[in-house]
Amino acid sequence: MFKVFLVTGGAGFIGSALVRHLIADTDVTVVNVDKLTYAANLTSLADAGDSERHIFCHADVADRQKMRDIFAQYRPEAVLHLAAESHVDRSIDGPRDFIDTNIVGTYTLLEVAREYWNRLDAETHNRFRFHHVSTDEVYGSLGQTGFFTETTPYSPNSPYSASKAASDHLVRAWRETYGLPTVISNCSNNYGPYQHPEKLIPLVIHKVLEGEPIPVYGKGDNVRDWLYVEDHVQALLMIATRGKPGEVYNVGGENEKQNIEVVRAICSILDELKPGKGSHADLITFVEDRPGHDRRYAIDASKISAELGWQPAESFASGLRKTVSWYLDNQDWCRTAMKNYQGQRLGLKAAP
Ligand code: NAD
Ligand code: DAU
Repeated sequence: MFKVFLVTGGAGFIGSALVRHLIADTDVTVVNVDKLTYAANLTSLADAGDSERHIFCHADVADRQKMRDIFAQYRPEAVLHLAAESHVDRSIDGPRDFIDTNIVGTYTLLEVAREYWNRLDAETHNRFRFHHVSTDEVYGSLGQTGFFTETTPYSPNSPYSASKAASDHLVRAWRETYGLPTVISNCSNNYGPYQHPEKLIPLVIHKVLEGEPIPVYGKGDNVRDWLYVEDHVQALLMIATRGKPGEVYNVGGENEKQNIEVVRAICSILDELKPGKGSHADLITFVEDRPGHDRRYAIDASKISAELGWQPAESFASGLRKTVSWYLDNQDWCRTAMKNYQGQRLGLKAAP
């Protein structure tokens, strides 16, 4: 195991789950680089934030000099690059930040990592890894059947997925051209505690608790493949520590659900835990579809399973129940997260 990890985006949803795990369950030191955008929340780090092994650096990954200083000062042995603009609807309304962070930020980090890696002593040089954390959305949209594999051609449809696809290509090029020991993972939809309420599952919980209409895009029949965030964290660590340089690993939960099924499942858990007058499902409202809405995502995770022995531990039913309960118990966290976002519809500015 590496002794010092540089994690970018460690104040976000998945990054904070990774940092909490690294601090609680390993003895590695975590250098957590985060710009603290609207999506970040330092309280998501919980006790990990106060650990002596957690070093927080408030910085933009696109700031080359700052990144050079951080690498020089803390000497990471591996990079887990999660920092990104992550919300599809926001990318429709304003793609600029997605270009700056996801493309230029990744480019900057690759260059700084390459310069640093070239000067490492032989042993550290050989062990160094740059793990780029990406998404299944780069593959585009599936029809009724089939799965995304590591060789599915890229076909991104939103500004978000196009920016992630561009960053994946940069990472690949830095491996092929400069030999930087990179690995890429492409994962399906994550859910769990500390996810920003702009995303479907926490948004539905919020709407139910407020007694407001639950917005379901289109007919609610788009399909996503849901993975509990802690299962993703386990996969990330396997890939970062045991993945083969130059390889790509798909990560997914084998949990395909139509959006409407997910929304109804949340409503029925809340009918039990927070009963109202009728069923919360009465709040479901079908609204204008997301422009360019990908129909179906589904991951074939057989490579990571066969080569690294990864399997998700959480079932969707148990993970969703845990998640809903967590949101009910952590309304203070939600209020902080919602300071910059009050649950309004995003992503409709594509119309002329
Ligand atoms: P998030 O939006 O919750 O968190 C992103 C974090 O990155 C925030 O803390 C933010 O402050 C930070 N950040 C943004 N721009 C930055 C910059 N320029 N410099 C430094 N920090 C910056 O995102 P998430 O859902 O935790 O996703 C993390 C990564 O995983 C992303 O790369 C995303 O593309 C990928 N991913 C997410 C999912 C998912 O379902 N959430 C699935 C697959 C892949
Ligand atoms: O597949 C991985 C991707 O999953 C990640 O790369 C992204 O960072 C992450 O945000 C997520 O993207 P989605 O667009 O799939 O997630 P979102 O939660 O925004 O939407 C999930 C589905 O629910 C999608 O089909 C759109 C729909 N939806 C979403 C919202 C916010 C609704 O029907 N109503 C809503 O209000």
